[in-house]
Amino acid sequence: MTTLTWTEAAPGVWRTRIGDSQALSPLALVGAVPRMKALERMAQAAPPFQWNDIRVEAAGGGRRLLVLPLTADEKLHGTGLQFMRMNQRGRTRYLRVNSDPKQDTGETHAPVPFYVSDRGYGVLIDSARAITMHLGSAVRLDETCQADVRDRNRDAGWKATPPSSRAEIRLPEEGADVYVFSGPALADAVSRYNLFCGGGVLPPKWGLGFWHRVPALFSAEEAMAEALEFRHRDYPCDVIGLEPGWHTRSYPATYEWDRERFPDPEGFVRGMLDNGFRVNLWEHPYVSPESGLYGPLKPLSGDYSVWGGLVPDYSLPEARELYAKQHKEKHIDIGISGYKLDECDGSELTNNAWIFPEHASFPSGLDGEQMRQLYGLMFQKMTNDLYRADNRRTYGLVRASNAAASSLPYVLYSDLYEHKHFIRALCNSSFSGLLWSPEVRRARSAEDWIRRMQTVCFSPLAMLNAWGDGTKPWSFPEAEPVIRRYIKLRMRLLPYLYTAFARYKETGLPPFRAMPFVVSPEELVRAEERRSAEMTLNTTDGAYGKRSIPQWDDQFMIGDQLLVAPLVEGEEEREVLLPAGSWIGFETGERYEGGGIIRVRAGIETIPVFVRDGAVIPMTAALPHALRPGEQAPLEFVHFGAAAGECELYDDDGVTLDHEHGACGWWKAVVTKSEDGIYKGELSGPAALPASYGSVSWSFARMGLDLHGK
Ligand code: GAL
Repeated sequence: MTTLTWTEAAPGVWRTRIGDSQALSPLALVGAVPRMKALERMAQAAPPFQWNDIRVEAAGGGRRLLVLPLTADEKLHGTGLQFMRMNQRGRTRYLRVNSDPKQDTGETHAPVPFYVSDRGYGVLIDSARAITMHLGSAVRLDETCQADVRDRNRDAGWKATPPSSRAEIRLPEEGADVYVFSGPALADAVSRYNLFCGGGVLPPKWGLGFWHRVPALFSAEEAMAEALEFRHRDYPCDVIGLEPGWHTRSYPATYEWDRERFPDPEGFVRGMLDNGFRVNLWEHPYVSPESGLYGPLKPLSGDYSVWGGLVPDYSLPEARELYAKQHKEKHIDIGISGYKLDECDGSELTNNAWIFPEHASFPSGLDGEQMRQLYGLMFQKMTNDLYRADNRRTYGLVRASNAAASSLPYVLYSDLYEHKHFIRALCNSSFSGLLWSPEVRRARSAEDWIRRMQTVCFSPLAMLNAWGDGTKPWSFPEAEPVIRRYIKLRMRLLPYLYTAFARYKETGLPPFRAMPFVVSPEELVRAEERRSAEMTLNTTDGAYGKRSIPQWDDQFMIGDQLLVAPLVEGEEEREVLLPAGSWIGFETGERYEGGGIIRVRAGIETIPVFVRDGAVIPMTAALPHALRPGEQAPLEFVHFGAAAGECELYDDDGVTLDHEHGACGWWKAVVTKSEDGIYKGELSGPAALPASYGSVSWSFARMGLDLHGK
């Protein structure tokens, strides 16, 4: 047993080094500077255990285990973008990057070796290795409680996974830095993690508008025609995404424009910008022999190929420079807004398996396992740095990530497509400094289509990915009015969303939050016990005929004031856990008392969204695209219910990084109610109005938005 020495790396953040210092870990790669001032401002609290309760123990095979105590009812959340469950307690999590995470092993596109406890602390292993965490799933013989040994023949209480009071984390051979983040609440531990990783991301305003990806082989002309159809049909859209067909060759890729489909890339991008569209480019890491980059990158690449292409070692500055120069000249300088960084994950497990092996070696000395774990982060960092050098913000998509990604402007997506899993991933991403898009592709029916579109419009990136099937928002004519209404509602909510992201940057509190951020552990346990909604069999316990405990992993908060409880195809009603206080149906205007479970019905034309009584929601017009610098729109403060209330509003130019040097402002809108019941609104801040808004109006005591008239 080794005694660990803990040092306070930042207020409320403790570090210990086990083994040697690692040259390349997620934290080192991202190189984010902790937001010390914000960390200092947080109330200080110690973790709820003694430091000498955390130990390193020798284990079989010469391995070392980091062991932390767990209390009987403690729940553990996080470990990255998990699709299958929200409470990871009692599970073994094998945190390896995997492009096809169909099983509940812990493997996923973005496995993050960071978990938070509902007792209010977080634990991070900062390592480039795939970490295995036994989160109360391994029971030592000397700890086995005899009373817990049941007879499965006779005892219905028999459990496949007996409880363990230890979290055992298998440490990489070479060691790792371990961090503990204190609370006092789960939300504080997550905020500290995000602040330590540089603060949350603030996307450009256009990133929060609607995105549409066109079919893979579309030409410039076809892409432009489809974009303009959004304008003609009165559907807002900010970003058009091009898929593999813009490259001269793909799988592996060249990063060079195909001149047949795109004879004049510069003119195409300019034309798009003139019409209010940004262009996003698909790419993946594997460099085609036909690419001008192939020759120079070859000596800087690994010893295995993928689809016949190079796997460059972008931990080397020379390799990064080659990539950066080409991307800057050919894409960024002509106005490309960002990338979709595809297939930087990979898997051996699928039918069409592809990826370099873990035993691959790279010129920097990294091996295949480390490269697989870090590849997604490397691309995020490289491309973000390119935009930063130009004083521009980017917002894009990535299919692999890891720890320390909080400040990187990328949103995860997947080829998986189970709507319920997509909603759960949205909840789970909030525990690990990640953003997730439940993208829409095809649909089985108009109902499936509407339900998915409703969910995506209330997510970090509202996108239709029609790369393979050519769907468009108007593909189901009978669904058109509903789809248009929700895309427009998202546009109207941009001031609220943008402010929630600005708060993420400043305080580390994520804009989209799972229920454990707002409901106490005790209340959640009570609510779980009472939940009567259809319960799903999970694969492991299913073999024993056990039902899993229903989690509140299908509803989430956006900012402090909105709660979203999506429905999926086939559902017209559901249970919703409302935190304490009074709530109002955002569209229906119905009033509810919180602090428990309600049951709501909603036909396909409505997604259940709730707003707190007294909430003041900053909204704007449903513009065809988000405001560009210098443009203005009307600002509207919509006050709901009866109680007085207030809100914050953040504003800046929406596209540059000048906000990092103070070119931004926070306003406060306060709604008061006089004794004779007259409401009044007042806006205060650094100027009478934020620069993005030409006028301000107020509406008071609203019982729901009248969307149907809009
Ligand atoms: C997949 C990706 C899809 C699409 C496709 C193009 O890997 O997940 O969204 O981009 O590649 O080939």
